[in-house]
Amino acid sequence: MSNAAAVPTASPFLAACRGEEPSRTPVWFMRQAGRSLPEYKEARAGTSMLEACSTPELVAEITMQPVRRYGVDAAIFFSDIVVPLAAIGVDVKIVPGVGPVVAEPFRTEADVKRLRNLDPCDVPYITEAIGLLVEELGDTPLIGFAGAPFTLASYLVEGGPSRDHAKTKALMKSQPEVWHGIASRLAAICGEFLRIQVEAGAKAVQLFDSWAGALSEADYRRFALPHSTAALAGVANSVPRIHFGVGTGHLLEAMTETGAEVSGVDFRIPLDQAAKRLPDKVLQGNLDPAVVLADDAPLLAETDAVLEAARSAKGHIFNLGHGVLPDTDPGKLKLVVDHVHEATTR
Ligand code: CP3
Repeated sequence: MSNAAAVPTASPFLAACRGEEPSRTPVWFMRQAGRSLPEYKEARAGTSMLEACSTPELVAEITMQPVRRYGVDAAIFFSDIVVPLAAIGVDVKIVPGVGPVVAEPFRTEADVKRLRNLDPCDVPYITEAIGLLVEELGDTPLIGFAGAPFTLASYLVEGGPSRDHAKTKALMKSQPEVWHGIASRLAAICGEFLRIQVEAGAKAVQLFDSWAGALSEADYRRFALPHSTAALAGVANSVPRIHFGVGTGHLLEAMTETGAEVSGVDFRIPLDQAAKRLPDKVLQGNLDPAVVLADDAPLLAETDAVLEAARSAKGHIFNLGHGVLPDTDPGKLKLVVDHVHEATTR
């Protein structure tokens, strides 16, 4: 027996994930890689999103850009939730300004069979890119990620982004066996995609169920939760798992039943309320991404309000309440990182 457990975790991000006391409140931002950075736009010029995601040197460069510029406490792997689907042969494109678009939507029993399992050989560029990153990142942990089965299925069933997810919900109710067939195959794909990233060196994972907030709690429990649980089980007991959705205030408790160690909270639920409801969970969030476009004084006041509200939580990882908006001034994100670090260094 060693006394390793008594040695504090050096990375503030990993310490917070584990419910230990970090040396300062860790910060990273969803969608920190890409979006608003000029160096990202330059690196990406002339390359489609999916092409970029399968070019290891480019993936490593784009993943590093926000780490260098902001001094965040974790890197998020530059990829996309539809990468594993493209890797198994689904005809999906990421249309700029729109999002993922699927040529032939998935709506029938026959379509279930179009979703085969993911094999590490399908994504050698992921393993290679993470290998490059682990070396370059040093002590800064890399977060791997996947889209949750419901969010991915919504793109597959609708054929693209959707506001009401109507075809997806209609499929769940009319043909539940087709729905569960699609979602359970997606769970296996997501679980494997996460496992591949962890095996290559990712130190934590985040499951994005961005659109789960569109479901009632009863439907979430019946149609989404079992599949998200299965996806996260692929990396249980290996790395901390963060789970996040948008507009999921009514699902906070249900979403913890997936087993994730950290609950991502969007900007609509104050963290002190979330902490009351989830006393045993480390919370991640939740500055409104739009506030980053405001003047410095209100931006810093709201940053402080998030830190204050988080004091009653079991642990806190500072983040936005959803992704960085495209018009964000990178200088403002740097201001937030420096402020959180200064205000919380112990
Ligand atoms: O910075 C990061 O977080 C790194 C990587 C990342 C991307 N997408 C890169 C990306 C992550 C974690 C995602 C997750 C993702 N992708 C989600 C879940 C998170 C969320 O925001 O809710 C979803 C729903 C998608 C699907 C998707 N891909 C959308 C909605 C879009 C935006 C389309 C647009 O142009 O507005 C994409 C494309 C995408 N994924 C971009 C980036 C940097 C923009 C593409 C570009 O720069 O050309």
